[in-house]
Amino acid sequence: MEAFHGRFYVSGEFREKYVVVEDGIIKSVTNELSGVHITSIPGLIFPGGVDMHVHFRDPGETEKEDFKTGSLSALYGGTTTVCDMPNNKVPIDNRESFGHKLSSIRNKSFVDFGLYQAASNVSIQECIGQKIFLGKSTGGLLTDLENCEWQDKVKVVHAELQECLENNSRENKDLITHDMARPIECEMEAIEHVFKYNLSKVHIAHLTSTRTVELSKSLGFTTEVTPHHLLLNNSMDLGARGKVNPPLRKRSVQEELLRSLKSKSIDVIASDHAPHTILEKKDFRDAPSGLPGVETRIPLTLSLHRKGLISLDRAVSLLMERPSEICRINKGYIAEGYDADFISVDIKNPVEINGEDLHSKCDWTPFERFEGIFPDVVYLRGELMIQERELVGSPAGVFLDAKKQ
Ligand code: DOR
Ligand code: ZN
Repeated sequence: MEAFHGRFYVSGEFREKYVVVEDGIIKSVTNELSGVHITSIPGLIFPGGVDMHVHFRDPGETEKEDFKTGSLSALYGGTTTVCDMPNNKVPIDNRESFGHKLSSIRNKSFVDFGLYQAASNVSIQECIGQKIFLGKSTGGLLTDLENCEWQDKVKVVHAELQECLENNSRENKDLITHDMARPIECEMEAIEHVFKYNLSKVHIAHLTSTRTVELSKSLGFTTEVTPHHLLLNNSMDLGARGKVNPPLRKRSVQEELLRSLKSKSIDVIASDHAPHTILEKKDFRDAPSGLPGVETRIPLTLSLHRKGLISLDRAVSLLMERPSEICRINKGYIAEGYDADFISVDIKNPVEINGEDLHSKCDWTPFERFEGIFPDVVYLRGELMIQERELVGSPAGVFLDAKKQ
């Protein structure tokens, strides 16, 4: 048994509390405590972050990222749990590839992790959720909705409808033409299409506009946005580094999405961390889509709070609570029975983001020189992982096996 003292985010407020932890799980949260050794944590203490949408490329493309570097990057950015997508080189749509992926990444992760399966005619009980691809993106997966085995778990939808993408196909040589080749209409059509299947627990990933957020909500879906669609747009000078699916939109659409972050229509901010090497990001036409972001997701969102755009409880809901609820994991809250994942932040201490300081293997960020607020201290299930912004822990992350929950 161990105990911690500090200003914890409990029931919607930061309050001075004692938190008792046993076997990595919060036993009690109290106003007073004596008779045990108590570790003080400085700053504001949030629950550890949960990023329900990352691509760590392991196995298959470990020249871009592997589970060690991806999870280290997550940890430095205050994310203690990730859910990894199934578009590996060999798709994770059957038991064999799922098992191979699990053995490839075992003992490599600095954070706890769940794994998605690509929805298919095989049902993998251990997966955290199922991924539906309605349009082709990196990896070229496309889901046959007529022939899937569904589970009572989150179904994360890549919402760009393939037929619409084909109708709009053109030479995409820059961010504007990339947006034209994959317009918002393809998102609208994909959301309306998946609705016809009457599935439970549908979650629409990386929405790019207030319009598609509202449409998704009106149909009963949960909603996700990314820091890049909130903060970047297609008139910025990003070149192929800003090439991502769905694309960055025009400035007015981006700014409207950012303003709607205050509203409860958006459930989750996920990074869609999708690293590609900087060499691949030279020529726009040939560049693969996707950009890194797991380490900057919480820092950028906390900076939005510092600038007055969202409240701290909205930030906690978007980064920690809602993704935990949607993935049905024991995380995201500082309360009895939850995992003791904590991050401590000095909210008044922003820094300038610099790609070279980040820990992803790909070594670049589209958020160069943006303001970020990084955690000083990170605990994973009661174990100190980061102290004074330096790694002190080992790769002790565990697989969140949905079969056992
Ligand atoms: O831009 C993207 N990159 N969109 C996706 O859907 C996949 C991702 C990747 O894996 O690179
Ligand atoms: Zn993705």
